[in-house]
Amino acid sequence: MRLGTCYYPEHWPESWWADDAQRMVEMGLTRVRIGEFAWSRIEPEQGRFDWGWLDRAIETLAAAGLGIILGTPTATPAKWLVELMPDMFALDAAGQVRGFGSRRHYCFSHHGYRAEAARITTALAERYGHNPAIIGWQTDNEYGCHDTAISYSAAAAAGFREWLAVKYADVAALNLAWGNVFWSMDYPSFQSIDPPNLTVTEPNPAHVLDWRRYSSDSVVIFNRAQVDIIRAYSPGRDIFHNFMGFFTQFDHHAVGRDLDVAGWDSYPLGFLEQFWFSEADKLRYARQGHPDIAAFHHDLYRGCAKNGRWCVLEQQPGPVNWARYNPAPLPGMVKLWTLEAIAHGAELVSYFRWRQAPFGQEQMHAGLLRPDSTDDVAANEVRAAAQVIAQLGEMGAPPKSVALVFSYEADWMIDAAPQGQSFRYLELAFEMYSALRKLGLDVDIVSPDASLDGYKMVVVPSMPVLDRAFVDRLAALGCPVLLGPRSGSKTRDFAIPENLPPGPLQVLLPVRVVRVESLRPGLHHNGKGFVIERWLEHIESAHVPDILTDDGAGILYRANHVRYLAAWPDQALLRQIYTQMAKEGGLDTHMLPDDLRLRRCGDHVFAFNYGTEVIRLGGTLRDMQDHSYVVGSADVPAAGVAIWQTPPPR
Ligand code: GAL
Repeated sequence: MRLGTCYYPEHWPESWWADDAQRMVEMGLTRVRIGEFAWSRIEPEQGRFDWGWLDRAIETLAAAGLGIILGTPTATPAKWLVELMPDMFALDAAGQVRGFGSRRHYCFSHHGYRAEAARITTALAERYGHNPAIIGWQTDNEYGCHDTAISYSAAAAAGFREWLAVKYADVAALNLAWGNVFWSMDYPSFQSIDPPNLTVTEPNPAHVLDWRRYSSDSVVIFNRAQVDIIRAYSPGRDIFHNFMGFFTQFDHHAVGRDLDVAGWDSYPLGFLEQFWFSEADKLRYARQGHPDIAAFHHDLYRGCAKNGRWCVLEQQPGPVNWARYNPAPLPGMVKLWTLEAIAHGAELVSYFRWRQAPFGQEQMHAGLLRPDSTDDVAANEVRAAAQVIAQLGEMGAPPKSVALVFSYEADWMIDAAPQGQSFRYLELAFEMYSALRKLGLDVDIVSPDASLDGYKMVVVPSMPVLDRAFVDRLAALGCPVLLGPRSGSKTRDFAIPENLPPGPLQVLLPVRVVRVESLRPGLHHNGKGFVIERWLEHIESAHVPDILTDDGAGILYRANHVRYLAAWPDQALLRQIYTQMAKEGGLDTHMLPDDLRLRRCGDHVFAFNYGTEVIRLGGTLRDMQDHSYVVGSADVPAAGVAIWQTPPPR
């Protein structure tokens, strides 16, 4: 459990570096991430490297006792390189060039740029691979940021055709798999296939799905090339990447398999503002972030790296510059966010950024220091968090309790044919996660091929493609399982299964989805204590549903330990279902106050107050009242944290 910061020595006079490093250490930081945007200063002209400043920066930071995570600068190719290779840019869906002047101006499929990325990575890894100050590497920066994982360039089109030829071997097989008899879409050859953009109306979803798979694979390949180089030249160092929030353009599980530590960049206030949350929640949590935003990603990215190693590589320290509105966090939130990450098992929380830059695009983005180098508000909260972390010591691992199965491909499939604009997979997964947290449950968000053994409850928000092997694994589980709407609704080739949805799940649970409907706002079905909005499936089954709407629509079906949910659920419905499942799985639930969340890690329990009023851990939380608190007390202040230890098992 460490703290660190993102630092840009190239932004500041060299005479400041030693003092900055000293102040970082004084603040309780032991890690510093540098270099990820510095290409134009490392290699000012093709082949002419200026290592001097970076050597000295590394030396200075290391002399203060900081361990360094060095970034490869491939998110910001220098202007001279772009001029040598003007076709390396990505193209957007409208065919417009995404050119130079900010960052991420490259196409993942461009072979020339791939070679350049390998070249600069090799140069860095050769020079610093064995430097004892370098404890790890970050590949690139936020793959896909600014909507860049998908490019419609000529390079991407060529790559896609090759990818299709490898996958299908014969174009007739592709035509059959995609159903190209429809609308006379048969292709005479792989060469005649374009990316699925600029079509008159919607492209074939099977075409879109393969395109999404191809685009995701390009990111995996791009990352893996850097990883292979770093492993060869810098043995024993950890390799990180900093993933983003609410981002699904590529398969993070696949990229994560090549990393040692999955990092992510946590900006709870920016994410609340930018995503689907209601106006009421945006206001209510404007200075705290929705209580489940950070946690959702902590639990997601823990499942994205080998051995569950994960961290926060960028933590919001104050107002950001990029959301529609950028409020300041409530006093205490930076400390709370830090401890929430630690409670979910983070090995590092690194703040973005050390000092606010007075120039460039992010001059309105807060840092730990103001542009005049005085402490900004977060600095003291970081000091306080560092003290708590020192006091906690090693806590052990987060418990295995509930698994929520998350599938990037599910997101692409639903996005390719949403059948109603309010059916968003990511939002469904988040809502299903949030309802678990509101009951005080601990969740691991895992990939579809992760082992589910040892969990006490399994939730699959939606999985359009259910293969037989997955269904067999569910069958073998001894704990309650819930599958959400649209599970088993498609084959791998994006067709409706022969036996109708939920396809192979019918082996475990004999229900057939005979019709689906999306519901515009205002169309709804009431039930006992819940309301169905957005999505309803019509089911034929000999089974009597466990839960129905007042007008008789079956919502929840169950056979043995497996349940199928045939609608978009609200929080109240989820609470009903989960409470029952938790009981069957032997898990205790709590009806937490709206703004309170719990997290167990080892034998420690953390309580986080995301509200603006004190929460007393009493009432239904009486069993939490009498603990001897390691941090805080039974009165948890606004933006406050309480931590206690559970008695050792007898
Ligand atoms: C991240 C990015 C950083 C910085 C930050 C600002 O997305 O990785 O470089 O731009 O946002 O909040």
